[in-house]
Amino acid sequence: MDVLLIKGGRPLTGRIRISGAKNSALPLMAASLLCPGTHHISNVPVLKDVQTMASLLESMGAVWSLRDSRLQLDTSDIRHQQAPYELVRTMRASVLVLGPLLARFGHAEVSLPGGCAIGARPINLHLEGLKRMGARIELDSGYIKARAGRLKGTEIYLDIPTVTGTENLMMAAVLAEGVTKIENAAKEPEVADLADALNKMGARIKGAGTDVIEIEGVESLRPMNHEVIPDRIETGTYITAVAITQGEAVIEKTRPEHLEAVIAKLRETGVDIRVSGDSLLVKGVSRPLPSDVKTMPYPGFPTDMQAQFMALMTIASGTSVIRENIFENRFMHVAELRRLGADISVEGSVATVKGVDRLKGAPVMATDLRASASLVIAALVAEGETSIHRVYHLDRGYERMEEKLRALGAEVERKRL
Ligand code: EPU
Repeated sequence: MDVLLIKGGRPLTGRIRISGAKNSALPLMAASLLCPGTHHISNVPVLKDVQTMASLLESMGAVWSLRDSRLQLDTSDIRHQQAPYELVRTMRASVLVLGPLLARFGHAEVSLPGGCAIGARPINLHLEGLKRMGARIELDSGYIKARAGRLKGTEIYLDIPTVTGTENLMMAAVLAEGVTKIENAAKEPEVADLADALNKMGARIKGAGTDVIEIEGVESLRPMNHEVIPDRIETGTYITAVAITQGEAVIEKTRPEHLEAVIAKLRETGVDIRVSGDSLLVKGVSRPLPSDVKTMPYPGFPTDMQAQFMALMTIASGTSVIRENIFENRFMHVAELRRLGADISVEGSVATVKGVDRLKGAPVMATDLRASASLVIAALVAEGETSIHRVYHLDRGYERMEEKLRALGAEVERKRL
């Protein structure tokens, strides 16, 4: 298993280019199941999760190649409409194949995802929405077994604006008979990106990116040709990394308008962020100011940036209160940050972070993707060496992270144990 060794204390300087968004690439890949033919997706990040989704599609009969961030996916010969436990277990986003399979083939078997490190994460809203569209769904031996004739347009109100739930239902609805209206839909940029791609395939979707999405079903679609939007969470992660090291760097090829809440919060802490087209110039301050944050669905402050923001607040000049509203167990990084000297207490969904003068390197363990990113950020400023174990979590969602950090002057090394 790989370990990252980081020697803290070097300011990050230079330029860094943002990769395509993981959470856009995964639903786009699932959407390729909606019609036969060769799909072209560009700006695809080379990540473990993308490979897992490609393997899942391959196990169904798809043929794919990924070169220079360009993914070609031929879904002409899909013989198996199943997502096995072994793959769903390693990546919950596998559940995104359910809607497209059901819409195109009228049946699908997808392993029910279990809980995961950040919470129970049920998918009841995906299933209830599909049922409203006429699907018959059974749970049998750990599998969701779904059947339907042609799905039927209907009105669906989501109790929670679930991101992958909205995506699954939108993909199911594009081939349904009649109009589907999804109310209280997720407004994340990745949902809008998927709708853009589907519309280019011939779908008729209006309102994606707002809380009401209307989808008029069509008879057939054509293969997609689409470029993935930049990763807003990768962008936020690098802004925080530059800021904590008192560095100065240009972050290129991003979409600042997707990060308004993150930029506003980081500015509150004193970080200087200037927007210029699709780039951001970031300058850290000698010591960040404390700031409170609550995670919210988009356009609020994203849960996927909570751990990284907490890492920055560990060295703030006062106390910050961080409330996690989306997932019930997303403070696994707290115990590890404490090992680096952070002063954090947790009560339920609230973490109180008392800024300390300095962090000190130590061995720590990554527990999930964003928790790992927060440990990297803290390690970049900690005195001495930090070794981060279980970095496979990072490889799931950050493309060439240590290479990008090294290019900015960080002392990072990957060792195979
Ligand atoms: N929820 C339900 N029932 C459902 C669906 C969701 O109760 O049927 C609850 C969840 O348990 C959670 C809340 O609703 O408390 C929101 O979850 P959501 O469904 O929106 O999350 P997701 O779609 O499973 C995506 C991202 C996550 C990101 C969340 C929230 C992808 C592939 N994953 O997950 O990304 O944290 O939205 O923004 O898009 C990550 O990249 O590190 C990551 C975990």
